[in-house]
Amino acid sequence: MNTTTTPHRQDDRIRIFDTTLRDGEQSPGCSMSPAQKLVMARALDELGVDIIETGFPASSQSDREAMAMIARELRRPTLAVLSRCLQADIETSLTALQGAANPRLHLFLSTSPLHREHKLRMSREQVLESVHRHVSMARQQLDDVEFSAEDATRTEEDFLADVVRVAIAAGATTINLPDTVGFTTPEEIRGMFARLIARVEGADKVIFSTHCHNDLGLAVANSLAAIEGGARQVECSINGIGERAGNCALEEVAMTLRVRNAFYNMGTAINTPRIVSTSQLLQRLVGMPVQRNKAIVGANAFAHESGIHQHGMLRHRGTYEIMRPQDVGWPDTQMVLGRHSGRAAVEARLRALGYWLDEEELKLVFERFKALCEQQRVVEDDDLQSMMQDGVQAD
Ligand code: KIV
Ligand code: ZN
Repeated sequence: MNTTTTPHRQDDRIRIFDTTLRDGEQSPGCSMSPAQKLVMARALDELGVDIIETGFPASSQSDREAMAMIARELRRPTLAVLSRCLQADIETSLTALQGAANPRLHLFLSTSPLHREHKLRMSREQVLESVHRHVSMARQQLDDVEFSAEDATRTEEDFLADVVRVAIAAGATTINLPDTVGFTTPEEIRGMFARLIARVEGADKVIFSTHCHNDLGLAVANSLAAIEGGARQVECSINGIGERAGNCALEEVAMTLRVRNAFYNMGTAINTPRIVSTSQLLQRLVGMPVQRNKAIVGANAFAHESGIHQHGMLRHRGTYEIMRPQDVGWPDTQMVLGRHSGRAAVEARLRALGYWLDEEELKLVFERFKALCEQQRVVEDDDLQSMMQDGVQAD
């Protein structure tokens, strides 16, 4: 079987299923109050996500309150809640979804041998029976039901195909195949989606979804590969927060699909200039800043310090930038002046501050600048101003 063959194309729109408020909130130190979830949900709505997973109502009163507050206000996006395959959970979740304009019940059950044996203590037959029973039960009450085969990427493929077949026959409208422990690789997950979609009858009637964890740092790459295999929904979170090393980062997958549109030829509805403000809001709400070199939303994502790069950027921004900072919500590119910067960048910064120097003057200032860089990491505008006021500039 050729694992890289793309199966039938469902359509070319990628639905963004944001799980910042559920899987994201499960990451250590990231819990949010109902009021904080509402603030975040409003920002996610403005960002244009298709589906917001608001929480796991059966697990806490706080999640039930959050869902009620969000449902009262947000009428555009689909609102989803997570539920185990248990009648009591389903009933609690359906109650929590009451009042939502576009409700979705997200059911999950583990399918891998490790989980079946040690966590569920269930046979394959029992798993299939539970999927059928609980998906049917949910579908009797709701049109939009997602089923997730937890730990799908470590499940025997023949059995996974049976699970998917049963879930579709019972009425699931979205089938999610999570890489729960961040174990898979791009080649592997692409093949898994492609083969399953090709072999399961009824696969063309549902949306296949990917949900990748980042334990090996592959969550975004694996999600993109799943899209190549036929997934049309990506489950992700702002800043990639989530259990352990996190989930696929929404901002990274959305910008890859945009920047490399000629390759993927598929888009999302994400209003990308809202990305940075949404990321910063989450950082403040949960008190977890992203690292400076985080793609898209880190402080260094559009900052250039080395002389060669700054010189290139001054000639043509495309030399070292593949997207405009404004496209994701940064005000502009940052030219950081420091030990690695060259004369061209210092001159450009001085001109921006109103100083137009001749060759001799610039040579002098640049020597002073280099000396200052021995004492401090970054030379700010204020440092340049005082340098000029201290008489470096010829009268
Ligand atoms: O990682 C996972 O498998 C999950 C499911 C519950 C969707 O979060
Ligand atoms: Zn998860």
